[in-house]
Amino acid sequence: MIRGCCHSATSLIILRDYYLLMTLDTTSLLEKYTPGNPALLEILLGHSRAVRDLALRIAAEKGLPVDRQFLAEAAMLHDIGVGECDAPSIKCFGSAPYICHGIEGARILRAEGLPRHARVAERHTGSGLTAEEIKERNLPLPQQDFLPETLEERLICYADKFYSKSRALNTPKPIEKIRAQMEAHGAGVATRFLALENEFGNPFEDFIP
Ligand SMILES: [Fe+2]
Repeated sequence: MIRGCCHSATSLIILRDYYLLMTLDTTSLLEKYTPGNPALLEILLGHSRAVRDLALRIAAEKGLPVDRQFLAEAAMLHDIGVGECDAPSIKCFGSAPYICHGIEGARILRAEGLPRHARVAERHTGSGLTAEEIKERNLPLPQQDFLPETLEERLICYADKFYSKSRALNTPKPIEKIRAQMEAHGAGVATRFLALENEFGNPFEDFIP
């Protein structure tokens, strides 16, 4: 009897979580956090869809054992914190420094009951950031490691580097340009990006800009 009850409760929880995952409306969530700012919503949707589609493509081409549903959702939500930040060139009129958009997004997503998605948001900046890098560069972030750890966290962090929010949203950056940008942020960031490149490959090897 007790075993039966426990089993039922567990099944209900699994069913509930599955239902929540399958019904997560990422567009509505992005709308909620870009109130009265359709221009930013358009940028966010365009950028996030490009990142999502690339992450899904890499996962499919490499046969990676990802949670595809989660990967798609988290890619759509990884930049949800930008509206809290100050970056007028991309229609962000908040007060936080732009580099805080990952942790702002994580705060929003945890409040929405999405802690797994929140981890993706807070760990996607650059190739992740270490507590030492944050301290050395005096960045306005908590002095702790924000490194992408899980496969989905690493893949979204990598796919994100190929797309800008300030230029043509669907045009990928050449990988050489990304490497140079990562080097400008220090040796640690550059080394971790190369590790991601080794893991996932160059998805635009045949792309001629
Ligand atoms: Fe992004």
